[in-house]
Parts: sequence; structure tokens; C-alpha cells
Amino acid sequence: MNILITGGAGFIGSNHVRLLLSESGDRVVNLDLLTYAGNLENLAGLEDDPRYRFVRGDIGDRDLVRQILKDENIDAIVHFAAESHVDRSLEGPEVFVRTNILGTEILLEEARRAEVDRFVMVSTDEVYGSLGDHGMFTEKTPLAPNSPYAASKASADLMCRSFYKTFGFPVIITRCSNNYGPFQFPEKLIPLMIANALEEKQLPVYGDGMNVRDWLFVGDHCRAVDLVMRKGRPGDVYNIGGCNEMKNLELVQLLVDKLGKSRDLISFVTDRPGHDLRYAIDAEKIMTELGWAPTVDFSSGLDQTVSWYLENRQWWEKIRTGEYKSYYDKMYGRGGRLGSSGKGKP
Ligand code: NAD
Ligand code: DAU
Repeated sequence: MNILITGGAGFIGSNHVRLLLSESGDRVVNLDLLTYAGNLENLAGLEDDPRYRFVRGDIGDRDLVRQILKDENIDAIVHFAAESHVDRSLEGPEVFVRTNILGTEILLEEARRAEVDRFVMVSTDEVYGSLGDHGMFTEKTPLAPNSPYAASKASADLMCRSFYKTFGFPVIITRCSNNYGPFQFPEKLIPLMIANALEEKQLPVYGDGMNVRDWLFVGDHCRAVDLVMRKGRPGDVYNIGGCNEMKNLELVQLLVDKLGKSRDLISFVTDRPGHDLRYAIDAEKIMTELGWAPTVDFSSGLDQTVSWYLENRQWWEKIRTGEYKSYYDKMYGRGGRLGSSGKGKP
């Protein structure tokens, strides 16, 4: 099979490219714009693989997409490319609309034109909004996105739905909870906290740290997406989750303890506006219909992740001293929206 991966130089996309090349006989074409989040170092060692081709480009570049689909005789698309960080979407939503909505729409149009057999839209549980203390998101939960990021993903999902309903184009949507693991960009909670702790910097917990996320090891997510691509039902939505809820503060404390650092590094900062309280995924459908289950428990997943960041210090140090540094200073520095509100409980 010839598979087009979009966003394959990012966190989940690069893990997915590696999975496909190591465990399937498929050919993989990776279309990625290499934004701040895209990093070819995530794919180091694959350059000479004859089953792999990298194309630097925008999913919104219609001519380029058309050319790739034709030249490579693409059978399936797995669409990861996106602006993915909620906090950035609060600072500048426009690029989220351009990439996540318009980019997806162009990809859909071209894929339909080229009669691609499968289109997997990698979406997120954030499209469902926020949960209170009880309940879980199912595939039937109404969409209620709260951040510009979530709204852009929900819009893309609806566009996908319309292509299935109107044109019978075989789109499948996956909605996943928070991923963690190797190659995650250090703006996201877990790698940010590991890197800061290793550098003895403050650990900025938003609000009171009581928000809950449902953590899933990236490799398990990739296996689920691959299964959906091969066996999922066109037009359907599949939730993917780790069955692993944790409060942010508890998670940060766990990381600090694993790293042997002091909990005094934890610093409560101004909360994220519109901060969703809790996510929890009901993944019953993919488990019973497709036979998927997470294989990595949180404790060993977190150990693997911590080890990876310890062993790959250069990878994240390079990012943190480069272009990303100005974002960090702007957001978390003195006068920034997330500037420290002081140590200890707020
Ligand atoms: P990421 O930010 O690490 O990577 C995104 C990749 O997309 C980067 O390589 C970037 O260069 C590329 N990209 C951005 N704009 C592009 C464009 N216009 N054209 C081509 N490439 C472009 O993101 P991630 O965390 O790996 O997330 C991947 C996908 O999974 C996203 O669609 C995200 O919404 C979804 N998702 C992520 C999580 C999570 O916890 N990280 C959970 C659920 C769903
Ligand atoms: O749920 C799936 C989503 O998970 C994906 O769709 C997104 O692409 C991905 O970025 C992630 O979104 P979150 O906003 O949940 O992830 P983030 O790592 O930014 O934050 C996780 C939690 O930690 C959230 O409650 C905010 C909090 N947080 C985050 C950062 C960066 C902090 O307390 N401090 C921080 O510095």
C-alpha cells in the first residue's frame, strides 16, 4: 500500500512513520511543512530507506498535494498535520484556521479527486469540550470545543463528515486523548516539566493543578490509528484513550519524584483561559470492534519517556535554545501571561 502521512515530522506523526516502516511492508510518503514543531531529527536514520520519501510542503498547497497523490499513487492518507498547541491558539488562532480547517479541506478535496481509498482524520478528544467530575466522552458526545485549537479540529471533523455523507468519500475520524512519549515537543506538559526539572527551573502548573487529562502512550495511539486505517468502517468515529486519568499536579509531582528533584520547583501560574477541567475517553468501541487495547501502562510509559529525555538531551536542548526560546520567554517570563504567581498553592 502507498500511504501518505501528513505531519510526519511532528511528535505523533514521526512515531507513526517509524511504526509503518518497521512493522508493515507499505511505502510511506511524509508531507510536512516543518513548522516550529516539525523536526527532521525525529526521523533520523530513515533517509536511506527506499520505502520512504519526505516532501517538505504545506497541506494547503493544492498543486503539491495533487502532484504527490498522482506521482505516488497514494492509496491511503493518515492526516496528522496540524497546529496542535492550545496555548498558541489563544495567542494567534489564524494559523489554526488556515492549517487545521482549510488545509484539511484542501486535502479532502484532492484526495477525493484522486479517488484515495482511505482517509484517516487524526482528531482529538478536545472537540467534545470539558467533563465535570463524572462521565466519559463517547463517539456520540456532542461537539462542544472550547479553545480555538479545539474549534479548528472540530471544524475539520465536520468537513470530514460532510465528505462522507455527501460524496461517500471514505473518511474515518479518530479522537484521541493526551499522548506522551519520545519526540514530544517540549512545549507540552510532560516534556516541558522533565526538561525544566532537569535544568532546575520552575515547573509552571496552571491554576490549582486539579485539571485532569487521560494519558496514552504514543506507540499505542499509533497502533490504534493504523488499525483504524486498515479495518475501520468508513464514515465512523473511533475514540482512542489510555484509561489513565490523572490530575496535572499529581503528574508533575510524580515526574519530579522520578527525576529525584525537589517539589519546591513546582510553581502555580495563571490559569489557561477556558481551561478544560477534565478529559476522559470511553474507548469501548475500538476495543470491541477492532480489538485494540493499550499495551503500555502509565508507570512504565512514563519511565520510558523520562529515560528517552535523559538520553536525548541534545534533541530538546537544541529546541529550547532555538526559536522556541522566545515563545517560552514571552509566555512564561516576567510579564508573560503565564508568569509565575508564586510558589506553593494559590
Ligand atoms: P505536533 O505539533 O508535534 O506536529 C504537527 C506536525 O504538523 C509538525 O511536524 C508540523 O511541521 C506539521 N504541520 C503543521 N502545519 C502544517 C502544514 N500546513 N502542512 C504540512 N505540515 C504541517 O503535533 P502532534 O502532537 O504530533 O499531533 C499530531 C496530530 O494529532 C494533530 O492533528 C493533533 O491535533 C492530534 N492529536 C494530538 C494529541 C496529542 O496529545 N499530542 C492528542 C490527540 C490528537
Ligand atoms: O487531549 C488531546 C490534546 O492533548 C491534543 O489534542 C493537543 O494537541 C495536545 O496538545 C494536548 O492538549 P492539552 O492542552 O491537554 O496538552 P498540554 O500538554 O498543553 O497540557 C496538558 C495539561 O497540563 C493541561 O491541563 C494544561 C496543563 N499545563 C500545560 C502546560 C504546557 C500546565 O499546567 N502547565 C504547562 O506549562
